[in-house]
Amino acid sequence: MSTWSIVLAAGSGRRYDPDVLKQYEEIGPWRVIDLSLARAGEVSDGVVLVVGADHADDPEPMADLVVVGGVRRSDSVRRGLDAVPADCDIVVVHDGARPLASSELFESVIEAVLAGADAAIPGVPVTDTIKQIDDGCVVGTLDRDDLVAVQTPQAFRAEVLRRAHEGDPDATDDAALVESVGGTVMVVEGEATNLKITTRHDLGVARLHFG
Ligand code: CTP
Ligand code: MG
Repeated sequence: MSTWSIVLAAGSGRRYDPDVLKQYEEIGPWRVIDLSLARAGEVSDGVVLVVGADHADDPEPMADLVVVGGVRRSDSVRRGLDAVPADCDIVVVHDGARPLASSELFESVIEAVLAGADAAIPGVPVTDTIKQIDDGCVVGTLDRDDLVAVQTPQAFRAEVLRRAHEGDPDATDDAALVESVGGTVMVVEGEATNLKITTRHDLGVARLHFG
């Protein structure tokens, strides 16, 4: 069984600071993507790093392959997937902007796929109450007990992930694409600490983690 990881770092970070890319910010001696690459590398036979065109020629010793991403996250996943060897069995997709995911979390999604799921994703309980709105007005309240907030790393049977991406669909996560082709998606216990760096505040919190 061979496992490759795709670490996504080709976003433009519109919700962050227009002058710096969040995935290249520093947390102690590491860049955000170094932490993501290190965890992915611990559990993978190979790692593909997907970067923006401006970073195509950066030396990235922790990645086996570096490819340039696309406009949408799903486009970047497909560029990464094209670089994964054809005979690979399991593909893990991870947001480079999630530097605090543990290697145990990578292992637990991979194990769930080895145990038979088409896909496995980390979920954490939702602590806020979630309401449906229409034009600024509440039209419904969802039952929090039925909801999880979903993270990466997400692991897939490679063949199912490739099939889910046929036709260049768009989604904020790959599990949604697997659901749409009828694949089974298992939820494993996610990590409250596994935040995605979206705003400057998140970077501050991630730095405290290594405090
Ligand atoms: N990503 C990517 N290619 C894209 C868009 C996103 O590789 N075209 C990556 C980001 O670099 C990030 C991960 O996907 O590691 C999750 O995306 P997100 O947190 O939304 O990052 P950005 O899209 O860069 O930020 P924003 O949505 O605020 O613009
Ligand atoms: Mg985005």
